[in-house]
Amino acid sequence: MTEHNIFFKPFNRKIVVHDKENLLRAAMEAGIHINASCGGEGVCGKCRVIIEKGDVEDGITEKLDKNDIEQGYRLACRSIVRSDLVVQIPVESSVDESVLNIQSTPRVTARMQKIDFEDLKEKGLFVPPVEKIYMELPEPDAQDHLPDVTRLVSYLYQYHKEHGLVVDLSVIRKVPDIFRQKGFKITVTLVRPINEKSKTHIINIQSGDTTDYNYAVALDIGTTTITGKLIDLFTGKSLAEYSDFNSQISYGEDVITRIMYAEKPGGLKKLHSVVVKTINKIIKNIVDGSGIDIDHISTITIAGNTVMTQLLLMVNPTYIRRSPYVPASTLYPQINASDIGLHLGDHVTALVYPVISSYVGGDIVAGVMGSGMYRTDKLTLLIDIGTNAEIVLGNKDWLACAACSAGPAFEGGGIEFGMRAAKGAIEDFSIDPVTFEPMNITIDGVRPKGICGSGLIIMVASMFELGIINNIGKFDRDLDTLRIRERNGVYEYVLAWKEETQIDRDVVLTEIDIENFIRAKGAIYSGCQTLCEEVGVLFSDVKQIFLAGRFGSYVDLEKAMVVGLIPEIEPDKIIYIGNGSLLGAEMSSLTNRIRRDVVEVTKKMTNFELSETPSYMDKYMAALFLPHTDIDVFPKVKARLEFRNRKKNHV
Ligand code: FES
Repeated sequence: MTEHNIFFKPFNRKIVVHDKENLLRAAMEAGIHINASCGGEGVCGKCRVIIEKGDVEDGITEKLDKNDIEQGYRLACRSIVRSDLVVQIPVESSVDESVLNIQSTPRVTARMQKIDFEDLKEKGLFVPPVEKIYMELPEPDAQDHLPDVTRLVSYLYQYHKEHGLVVDLSVIRKVPDIFRQKGFKITVTLVRPINEKSKTHIINIQSGDTTDYNYAVALDIGTTTITGKLIDLFTGKSLAEYSDFNSQISYGEDVITRIMYAEKPGGLKKLHSVVVKTINKIIKNIVDGSGIDIDHISTITIAGNTVMTQLLLMVNPTYIRRSPYVPASTLYPQINASDIGLHLGDHVTALVYPVISSYVGGDIVAGVMGSGMYRTDKLTLLIDIGTNAEIVLGNKDWLACAACSAGPAFEGGGIEFGMRAAKGAIEDFSIDPVTFEPMNITIDGVRPKGICGSGLIIMVASMFELGIINNIGKFDRDLDTLRIRERNGVYEYVLAWKEETQIDRDVVLTEIDIENFIRAKGAIYSGCQTLCEEVGVLFSDVKQIFLAGRFGSYVDLEKAMVVGLIPEIEPDKIIYIGNGSLLGAEMSSLTNRIRRDVVEVTKKMTNFELSETPSYMDKYMAALFLPHTDIDVFPKVKARLEFRNRKKNHV
């Protein structure tokens, strides 16, 4: 891929970007603040830069007059990098950092772990749980009058001798006609055994050779959002992905209110049917979007939290919310997808991820399997931040897990303008330390609509670092800016004025939002601390952290440490795995080994109830500060804050 060097003046900072990178994002990545309040839609006209050398595409809008254009002015947010550049940031767009002698730092984002298909192949792990075999069977005649199914089984037996074969009734029903459609040329679909004791299942039969068309669906059922992915089992590639809100939301925002609804007459059936409806819509979208024949889908893997799993399977969830909080089951048998109402062929098998406890569900087990933490020697911490937060600590020998009651702040809950990581969400942010003007970067570069998790972390951290908010999240009342104001007795910072937004209202961050954020991050940090203490290890023993969640792809690790969300650890030891639940479901579609290993992993995962751990509350209270009551546990943040305070006092 072509790359270009960009040199930003007067900061003398260089960055290398891919061809067609957006210039505003490039500046953000280089740690350079450019005023930008409309999120990158070209409306506010504040992100003016001068292109001194090189070429950008677009960048010219009605916000620039003829004179500006002749002088080389462009809007950074509309400029696409097409060559090496020298870019001058004019004073009106940024700040002369030497005024405060405070240098912003380039973004430190987490490495993203994706499925490395070639690596799976090399290690011999690309063995999907379902396989297709093409056969040309001898036709029966006067000497050979074996029954159809016997003919099929005896041919297949040569490949699957050691496991034995089971033929489903649905296959027997199809055999007579399918055999004769193309002169006994057929393709059978088999589910591979997961261990020495299990058998190979013949689940489908099709006429002719369809071995090139074998697909799987990976599904993550979240309390708020459901995401499905279509995977080609022949190439290992993902063909389509689609997300939608879980329609159960109309019957309750969170798992507790859903359980309460399920307890009403007909409630369980209703919740089951609406979630199935959403899943069917998602399946239809990914199938239509990729243009495949739905009959060639052979398997589906489903991961969700414990309540979502029970509601999908129509299992009464009542006792999950009653002491002593037990789920109906941890393991679920392989089922037929059509038996639970999914619009898939009656041959399609569904693997439902096992759960650990009422509050550590299949989504977390899927994260453990997908990230591979259960196979490593390294002491690993997995933090999954979703509608709530769950943590897993361990390695290939042992695993401990716990759920933290962090609440949904990172997915937008409890934040006035909070939203999921979707179009129009502010996902990256910087603030001018002199004028307090914002640099908002939104998903898809459109006018802001709200704030997603990654944006929220960066906002709180940036404002705290510059002393705009203090360590309990209160704004400095004396700053000279119209952006900090009081509304209905609550202080807030205006991220974007009404005319720069999509919603015809100012988009703001309030002190109440910050308070909720601090509670959420405090619950996660203290949960990790308590789990470490319970198993007798220190944070410093942790060799890597897997960060999972759907809060946006620009998680700035330095900032996550500044607010005290994660312990201080070298950034290169942190790996972002995105939606861990979906990753695990996808991995199970590609490698049969996961189906075998998951049972053992489930047995190995020890659950800790944080609410019953006496020291947890003290740790939680101590974590309700930025970054923490005991700043010494964040030595790098401490040093940075001290340095900046010294510089400020000097000015
Ligand atoms: S015009 Fe570029 S961010 Fe507003």
